[in-house]
Formats: sequence, structure tokens, C-alpha cells
Amino acid sequence: MKDKNTFYITTPIYYPSDKLHIGHTYCTVATDAMARYKRLQGYDVMFLTGTDEHGQKIEDKAKAAGVTPKQFVDDIVEGKGGILDLWKLMDISNDRFIRTTDAYHEEAVQKIFKRLYEQGDIYKGKYVGKYCKPCESFWTETQLVDGKCPDCGREVQDAEEEAYFFRLSKYADRILHLLEDTDFLEPRSRVNEMVNNFIKPGLEDLCVSRTSFTWGVPVDFDPGHVVYVWIDALSNYITALGYENSQYHDYDKYWPADVHFVGKEIVRFHSIIWPAILMALDLPLPKKVFGHGWLLLEGGKMSKSKGNVVDPVILAQRYGVDALRYFLLREFPFGSDGNFSNEALIGRINTDLANDLGNLVSRTVSMAGKYFEGGKLLEEQAEGPEDAELIGLCAGLRDKYEAHMEKYAFQDALMDVFAVISRANKYIDETKPWVLGKDEAQKPRLARVMYNLLEAIRICAVLLTPFMPGTAEKIFAQVGADEGLRTWESAGRWGSLPAGVTIARGANLFPRIDMEKELKALEELEKKPEEQAAPQAPEKKAEEPKAPAAPEYITIDDFDKVKFVTAKVLACEAVPKSAKLLRFTLDCGEEFPRQILSGIHQWYEPEDLVGKTVVACTNLKPRKMMGILSNGMLISAVKEEPDGTEKLHLLMLDDAIPAGYGLC
Ligand code: MSP
Repeated sequence: MKDKNTFYITTPIYYPSDKLHIGHTYCTVATDAMARYKRLQGYDVMFLTGTDEHGQKIEDKAKAAGVTPKQFVDDIVEGKGGILDLWKLMDISNDRFIRTTDAYHEEAVQKIFKRLYEQGDIYKGKYVGKYCKPCESFWTETQLVDGKCPDCGREVQDAEEEAYFFRLSKYADRILHLLEDTDFLEPRSRVNEMVNNFIKPGLEDLCVSRTSFTWGVPVDFDPGHVVYVWIDALSNYITALGYENSQYHDYDKYWPADVHFVGKEIVRFHSIIWPAILMALDLPLPKKVFGHGWLLLEGGKMSKSKGNVVDPVILAQRYGVDALRYFLLREFPFGSDGNFSNEALIGRINTDLANDLGNLVSRTVSMAGKYFEGGKLLEEQAEGPEDAELIGLCAGLRDKYEAHMEKYAFQDALMDVFAVISRANKYIDETKPWVLGKDEAQKPRLARVMYNLLEAIRICAVLLTPFMPGTAEKIFAQVGADEGLRTWESAGRWGSLPAGVTIARGANLFPRIDMEKELKALEELEKKPEEQAAPQAPEKKAEEPKAPAAPEYITIDDFDKVKFVTAKVLACEAVPKSAKLLRFTLDCGEEFPRQILSGIHQWYEPEDLVGKTVVACTNLKPRKMMGILSNGMLISAVKEEPDGTEKLHLLMLDDAIPAGYGLC
């Protein structure tokens, strides 16, 4: 019996025939946001993704590459820069990853196939029809569009072979009822598509085995046949929970799935074939299939063969994973197609993330730091006439957001959060903290203004966690929201931050991007290697000594990303119980002293360093060492000693150089 407090969500399993592109990333990021949202609400979530590794296309590609199909897919799935790496980069929080070549899955597929055969839902016949090789789909004459594949528009071939069939026709009435009379399939427009294009013309039995290739799960009772894609692929959703195998044991806990997210071209398989297979197996049906739209490029589908795929790695590395995640779910309504462009991406980052969110956080935190000693708000606070509207909006935000998220309307949920962010920016302009700050008597009012802003930011950050987990964490650290103030429950409760909260200034969240420069840079990066401007070869001299191996160059833009500043050591002490760590309090020319830990105690005594001018990298991701937060890194020169040990010399500057100067 499925546990009520569980939520089971899946992505399609991806074909590892090529590197994945931004379109695949879109679906996975959406699923991840939903999974994180449900976890935030307190559900026990099972988020499954994986790879669909069998079929002729993979067999052919492996052959062309001169490797076995398994070697071929292993490289794309687990190799460097492969699918697992991509999901790690994109901060995908899947609980399980299934590969259809996993032995437990193959074994379960054989059992499912045999059972369906033995009970008469699968029978042996002859397949005569049309086959689209790139899509690996069989079609009947009536399903073709202008004689071509209805999915990709390419030529189809005549096909005839002995094959097993699944009695899909037997389930036509039940499927029609499921689609028309329940909200099993969403958005609703997809129901009409399924009913008119596939069910009304007559649901035909489905070819479920092949003899023309071998890279598939063998039909164990009839050598020569392999299970053809859909029974193998679709059943991943239950085998990954332990159905007909002993690898996992949580089928009862999680099945039926709460939602399968799938792209629109595979809605047919998920809303007709999959429920029919489950009906035949006498298993409960998933609660919902949601068919999302495609990301298009210049109005057309992205595909490797068209050479117009957008690489998510380039974008995530340049602008940050969270910016890309946010853009994908904010820019396009989830159920519809959307046009991807670099310009839209950069525009969205500059307006929503840099101008609105980033600015709100940095203005608020820097003012709180400037006007209140140690960044700690005065507890005595005074309300004002500008407060009610902002507080009202924040107090009602979680419920509005929830209503959208329950409908998978990510765009609407984000729009509501950003409406509050804009309102909070306007509140700053209305309350003018810089004027209040000049008058000591206004301190309690100023404290309340700062409090309201911090509380608004906190609530928004909780609701942004599913979309931008890393950014939300950085915001929590800045506004002084500890674990208990990052919860779903606390997002619905205005006034959760303590009145005397202490802020901690951090780095700017989203620097503005120079649109023109970036568009050019991206254009260059996204070109095929052979089209990129060739680097100028150095003039070759006659007897030049052999050059050392070329270093891995970084660009000036990469270099510019690292922020080095001059810093004056205000205080320095040894970290208790650590042999290496020193804790520095530094003046980096900022509102507040900055704390950085450095592992140099074996070479320096802390008291000798006080007053020195050193160099700090200030935009390194903060991290904890021995439970203490280090907000940057001090730069040292390092030398290897003859005995193989390393010796560090802290980089020190002329004391005449003031603190807070950037290095270039
Ligand atoms: N292997 C099948 C799914 C089997 S599920 C039991 C498959 N794989 S796929 O790799 O081709 O596609 C996986 C998903 O990526 C599909 O949902 C597909 O719609 C989605 N996308 C691929 N390109 C896309 C876009 N350009 N935009 C949005 N999603 C797209 O189909």
C-alpha cells in the first residue's frame, strides 16, 4: 500500500546515443524542482531518472565507433563529462538512477514479457508496416504524415518481420475512459491529441520484439528476439523500485507514481501504452502524466543531426547553475513550447537575478551592516505606514506559490515570488533607509524597515530553494536565517526571524553580464571546433628547442571572475584543536570585517601577522572548516622542499597599500 506521505516522480530515461543538450536538461531540472519542492513540504520523495540504453541506434553507433554497445553507453553515461556528470553539475537531486542495462532491470523485463505472453496479452505474429529508424518507431500507413514519420518528419522504411505483439487494442476502451474522464494526462490539450490521433482511428496492437538487431533484452523463451524498446523502457519506472527483482524493495512504498514528467513526443507511450501494460499486469496506474513542451531553437527542434544543440555545460559554467535553472523554469510555461536564445537567458539574468533579487539582497544586507553595529538589528522597532502592503504580500505568498506548484506551473510560482522581490525593492525606495539612518531618533523605525526586508527576502529564499538551491543557501547565510528558518512551515509564517537578527554580508549573488560581449563570446564557443577562429601559430624558428606541453589556458574572462583584494589583518588566532588553521579577521574594505581561515599555522605565529597587508580571494564559495565558516582564501606562494614537503609563504604587501584594493 503506497504511503501517503511519499511522492514518486520520474523523468523519462534518456537515450545515451549522444551528449545531452539543454532540452534534456530542461525536463530534468523541472523534475528536480518538483522533487525539491515536495521534500521541502515534508514528503518522502523518490526521484528517479536514468538511461534507456538498448536499441538499434545505439548498436549502430557503437559499431561505427568500433566499440561494443555497452562500452559505448558506459562512456556516455558514466564517462568524463557524461550524463552523470551533467546531472551533478546541474545540482540534480535524484534519489535513484536506473540504466536499462542493469542486470536487475533486464531480469525483471524478461519476467514481465514472459508473464504477458503466458497470459495471452502478448502473442507472436508478423509485423508489416513502416519503421522510422532515427525514432525507433513503428507506424501504420494511417499514422504517417505526408508519408513521413509523424514525430520527426523523416523518411520511413517498409518493414516486415516475425515479431511479438502486445494486445493494445484490448485496452482501448479503458484507455479512452482514462484519458477523457479523468485528469490522468495533462495539460488537457494533449488529451485531444491522443484521442483524435491514436485512439479514434483504432488502437492497433503494438509490436514489442525485434529480430533485426541484437542489442536489447533477449526474449528468454524465443532466442533471436529481443524486447523492443517500450516494454523495456517503460517498465523502468517499476523495476527501479524492485518490481520483479530483488535489487530494491520499495515498490509498495512508492508505487503508483505521483507524476511522470515527459516531453510531448513521448506522451503517446506514457498515456496509452504504459497504462495498458500496467492494466495487463493488473497494477495500479500512475496518478498523472504531464507532457511538457519542447525548447526550440529559432522555432525548430534541437537535434544533434541538425547540429543546433545548445550545450548546458557551457551556460552553467559561465553564468552559474542556478541562473540557468531559474531561466529554464521562469522563461517558458512548462506545458508549452518555448524558444531558447542566449539573449533571453542573459536578459533574464540581468533583470530578474542581478537587478531585482541580487540588488535587493545586497542593498538590504549592506544597509543593515552599515546602520547597526555588528550587523545586529536593534530589537526595539517601530512600525510605519509603508509596512502593511509588503507584509500582506509576503504572508500570502506561500499559499499562492503552492497552488501554482501543485499544477506544475513553475513559471507562475516564480512570477509570484519575483513580484514580492520587486515590491520589496520599491519598499526600500519608499522608506528611504539612508534618510532614516541620519537621525538617531529614527533608529527603531530603521530597524523595522530592515527587519521587514530581511523577512521578505527570507520567505522568498525558502520558496526559491527548489529552483536555486545554492543561491537560497547563500541568501540564508546573509540574512541570518538558520536551519529552522529555511523550512516550508516558516515560509508561511511572517515574523519568524528574531527581531535582533544579525546579518552577514556575502559576495554579490549575480553580477551583471555585458550582453553584447557575452553574445559574441557564446557565439564563438558554440561554433563547431572546426569553425572557430584558428589561433595564430607562432613563427617557427629554425632550431627552436622543443616546446613544453601547452598549458591549459584560461581566458581573460575566466581570470576576471576571480576577485583578489588587498586585506589588512585586524586579528588572527589559532583555531582550537587544529594544528594548521589560523582564523583571520580582515579588513577587505567592506562594510564588515571578513573571516577567512588559512592552514598556515605551521609557518606563522598568529600575533606576527596582525597589522600585515595580505591578498585575499573574496569570491570563493564560503566553506566550513572545523565548523567555522571561511569566507574566502588567503593567497600564498608555495614551494616544494627537497624532502618533498611543501612550504607556504603568505603573500604580503607593502603596508602602505590600503585595504580593499582589487588586484588586476
Ligand atoms: N528514451 C526515451 C524515453 C523513454 S521513457 C520510458 C526518450 N529519450 S530521449 O533522450 O530522446 O528524450 C528524453 C526526454 O527529453 C523526452 O521527454 C524529450 O521530450 C526530452 N527532450 C529532448 N529534446 C527536447 C527539447 N528540445 N526540449 C524539451 N525536451 C526535450 O525519448
